[in-house]
Amino acid sequence: MTELSTIYKLSLVAAACFFHACSSSSCPALDCWFVQEKVGRGGGLTPPTSQEKSLLYIRTDTNSHSAESQEPLSDTSPDRVYFITDPAATLCHHSLSPPKGSIEKPQCEISPFLQQPSNLKWVAPLTVSGFSPLYLQADWFSAALRGVDKELAISTVMRAPTATKEPNVILSVTSKTVSVQSRLGKPVLLDCGFWVDPSSPLSGSGFAVEWRYQFRGKGRLVLAYDGKTDRLADTQEKGATLDIEGLHKKGNASLILQEAKVRHSGTYICTVYLPYLLAQVAVELEIVEPPSLSIHPSPLPLAAPGQTLNVHCQASGFAPLSMELSWEFKGADGKARPLESGSVTGHREAWDGTYSQSTWLALDTSKMDLGTGGELTCVAVHPGGTRRARTSLSIIGLTSPSIEDSMAMVGVALVLYGLIKFVFWTFTSSGEAEKLDKKEK
Ligand SMILES: *[C@@H]1O[C@H](CO)[C@@H](O)[C@H](O)[C@H]1NC(C)=O
Repeated sequence: MTELSTIYKLSLVAAACFFHACSSSSCPALDCWFVQEKVGRGGGLTPPTSQEKSLLYIRTDTNSHSAESQEPLSDTSPDRVYFITDPAATLCHHSLSPPKGSIEKPQCEISPFLQQPSNLKWVAPLTVSGFSPLYLQADWFSAALRGVDKELAISTVMRAPTATKEPNVILSVTSKTVSVQSRLGKPVLLDCGFWVDPSSPLSGSGFAVEWRYQFRGKGRLVLAYDGKTDRLADTQEKGATLDIEGLHKKGNASLILQEAKVRHSGTYICTVYLPYLLAQVAVELEIVEPPSLSIHPSPLPLAAPGQTLNVHCQASGFAPLSMELSWEFKGADGKARPLESGSVTGHREAWDGTYSQSTWLALDTSKMDLGTGGELTCVAVHPGGTRRARTSLSIIGLTSPSIEDSMAMVGVALVLYGLIKFVFWTFTSSGEAEKLDKKEK
């Protein structure tokens, strides 16, 4: 009986460890930069911001005092140490707590946040019926974090009762795929999810989601959804959707592009709005399509020794514009070796944004030791993969002459010599006969 109760107690301790200490100890203490605008310094070339070292302790509920093992760095001001409560444990992601001593560090920035209503058409309905703005009277912060795996981005908005340094996460927006690659024509999912503190008075007042595209300074709205009135804004973008049900039930704001096109490459910004608040993460999409290759003429004509063959290799339908074209030759010994690179033409852009480019090889069959031929390969090295096109090359009669051939050649030479001699003799003798004729007349 006592044994049984001991086991029971032990398992309770284990369970408590599992649910409390153990789970919360995985919440990291985060080294962070506290970034804020400098007061009284406008203009000039340097951005008017200041950076101070900061330390964030994360816990999943206000009662647990965990993860305070890490001492603040000596040059971190005690004013910049924050005790954050994050019930959703978003900030406890393993990608934010790399093993001790690893060189890669997660990135973290925390700043004061200015809460304000938005005029955007799909956000404005959130603030029409006012709730107690008293809730807004507090210290608000936003934090932006990047995991060491280069795949995780988190942006949070936090509220701390004035001057407490103990902010609570109210809204967090996360992407687990901050850099996405896709082949052409495939469906693409750009991950974005959000969480709202259900105990916050802002949580029942609706939300809005916006996806915006940016590339080389130009931007456009891809999709905007007003979750309060359940309305999608009109946009020019075709084939971009959200899973509306998943959005309301699980905060899944991922953008679905039905068919990847080259013009989709760029930065996508997922913004989630609550009344007076917003948080956003950026996702990079790159469409990477390797080239298709073809060799012309194919098959190659038979080449005589000493002849120069012009061979053309065309690479088409690839993106991005970053490719190396080269030639290889594989002879009877089966070893591939590089040939001269050939002359590469300028690129052309097709209607769908893909590129084509080609290379011309002037293959001098006498210069290279090509034997009787082999396999000629055009090689394209592209971020989407290496592609090869092959054709066979045959060179006739390029063997060194055998004894019989030499004998035959000598024979032919002798016959030719005799023939020339005979013709010469016939002409000269007939010429002399003519001279004699003339003299006689
Ligand atoms: C979000 O929704 C998309 C589309 O339905 C789905 O493929 C994806 O797995 C969902 N993500 C999560 C985290 O549930």
